[in-house]
Amino acid sequence: MRSNRYYWVCYVIVVKSSKGGELYVDGFRVRVVEKLKLPSIDKRLKAIEEAGWNTFLLKSEDVFLDMLTDSGTNAMTDKQLAAMISAQDSYAGSRTFYEFVEAVKEVLGYEYVLPTHQGRGAEHLLAKVLVKPGSIIPMNYHFTTTKVHFELAGGKVLELYIDEALNTRSTHPFKGNMDVEKLKETIKKYGAENIAFVRMEATTNLIGGQPFSMENLREVSEICKKHGILLVLDGSMIDWNAYLIKRREKGYANKSVAEIVREMCSLADIFYASARKAMCVRGGFIATNNRKVFEKLREWLPVYEGFFTYGGMSIKEIAAMTIGLREMVDESLVGAEVEQIRYFAEKLLREGIPVVTPPGGLGVHLDAKEFLPHVPQNQYPAGALAAALYLVSGIRAMERGTMSMERENGKEVFSPLELVRLAFPRRTYLRTHIDYAVDRIVWLYEHRDLVKGLRWVYEPPVLRFFLGRLEDIDGWGKVVYEKYRSELGKY
Ligand code: F0G
Repeated sequence: MRSNRYYWVCYVIVVKSSKGGELYVDGFRVRVVEKLKLPSIDKRLKAIEEAGWNTFLLKSEDVFLDMLTDSGTNAMTDKQLAAMISAQDSYAGSRTFYEFVEAVKEVLGYEYVLPTHQGRGAEHLLAKVLVKPGSIIPMNYHFTTTKVHFELAGGKVLELYIDEALNTRSTHPFKGNMDVEKLKETIKKYGAENIAFVRMEATTNLIGGQPFSMENLREVSEICKKHGILLVLDGSMIDWNAYLIKRREKGYANKSVAEIVREMCSLADIFYASARKAMCVRGGFIATNNRKVFEKLREWLPVYEGFFTYGGMSIKEIAAMTIGLREMVDESLVGAEVEQIRYFAEKLLREGIPVVTPPGGLGVHLDAKEFLPHVPQNQYPAGALAAALYLVSGIRAMERGTMSMERENGKEVFSPLELVRLAFPRRTYLRTHIDYAVDRIVWLYEHRDLVKGLRWVYEPPVLRFFLGRLEDIDGWGKVVYEKYRSELGKY
C-alpha cells in the first residue's frame, strides 16, 4: 500500500484528500485511557498563585492538558509494556542490557553503549571526560542542561546557528542548521585543539523544534573530520528530525526513516540522548564507535550513574527502551505528532496568532514577544504568557525564553527568543484537545492587553526556571480571571 507520496503505515496514514492535498490519519488506536479533569477558573487562579506563577510548580492534578514536555510523558506501546515484564533484573550483566546493545548496533550503527539515568547524565559524563577549562563547544543551539554541564566543567558554548534560526516568521525548512562558515571561522580563531567537540541537536529544542538537514550535518561532519574534531549528535528528538528530513529534503522522500537515522548517526562520532523523548521511556544513553572515548567515559559511569549494564536506569525501562528504539524508526511512529503540530500551528496562524514557523517537531511555540509586545523582557513575557495560558485554559505549557537563561556574573542574559512551548507527548492528545487549545489561545490573544509581566520572589542560582517563584505585576491574574469569568463562566 505504498506509492511515492501516499502511503499506509503503522502510526500515521497519509492519503490523498478528496478535497485536494493530503489527509493524515492516526494509524493507531488507544487501549488504555486516563481520565482528565478540567479545573474551574477559580481553582486555576488559586493553583497558579500557589505555584508562584511558574508552570513547573503546578500539581498535575490541577492541569487539564499537560503540554509542559514530551519528556517521560509519551504513551508507550503495548510491546514496550510487555517487554518490561520479561526484563531480566540483575545488577551486573543483565541479558536485557545486551539486547539493548544489539538494538543500538542495528538501529544507530554504534558498537559501544553506556546507559545513563537520563539525558543530562550523559551530558555530565561527556563534560567530565571531554570538556576542560577553556574548551570551546560549538553547537547549532544549546539546551538548558547541556549548557550548564559544559560550562560547569569550564567550557564555553558557542551557538553557530544560521541567521534564519531566530526569525520566528521564517519559512526556512531547516532552521536548525549550523552556519558552516561560522564553524570554519571558529576553528581558525580558537584552534581545533581547543575545541572539545562540535554538538548538533536533532530538532533544536529552544528555537522551536527546528530540524537540520542531512546536507548540513554532512558538511559539519566533513569539517570536523578534516580538523580531527569529534562530532556529538544529541539524538533526543532524532525521530522528528529524521521525519522532517524525509518530508522536506530533496532526495529523501523515498528513504525510510530507519535509513535516514542510520545515515545521521554514521556522520557523528558520539551519539547521546534523553530516552525520555523519542524512545518513550525514562532513561538515556551514550553510543559511539570510538573505543578510546568509550573507555574513558565508562570509567566514570559507576561513579555518577551506576554499573555499566544499567547506568542508573531501571532494567525494565531498558527493556522498553530496546523496543522504543526500534519503534522510533518504524517510519510511521515519527509522523503523528509532527502532523498534529502542523495542524495546530496552521489553525493558530489562520487566527492571526504569532507562532514559530515553519512548524517543526516537539510542539507548537507561541512567540511571546509578539503576543505580549507591551511586556518588557526583564518582566519575562514568555513566563507571563505560559502562566496566563494556564489560567484561561488549564493547559500547562513551558516558558522557553529569558527565565530559561542563566545569569552571567549576576547579570540578566536576555534570550533572543521568548517562546511558550506547548509540547506534544507522543500519541497522547487528540484533535479535540487542539481545537480547545486554539479557542482559549484566541480568547487570550483578544485580551492580551490585560496580561502584564512577572517579577521574582525567589530566584535559584542555577536552572532557575525549574524552582523559581514569581508574582504577577499589578495583580494582572485577578484582572484576567474576572474578565474570563464574566465572558466564559466557571470553566
Ligand atoms: N537534550 C535535549 C535536546 C533535550 O531536549 C533534553 C531534555 C536533554 C538533552 C536532557 O535530557 O531531561 O533526559 O536529562 N529535554 C526536556 C524537555 C527536559 O522538556 O524538553 P533529560
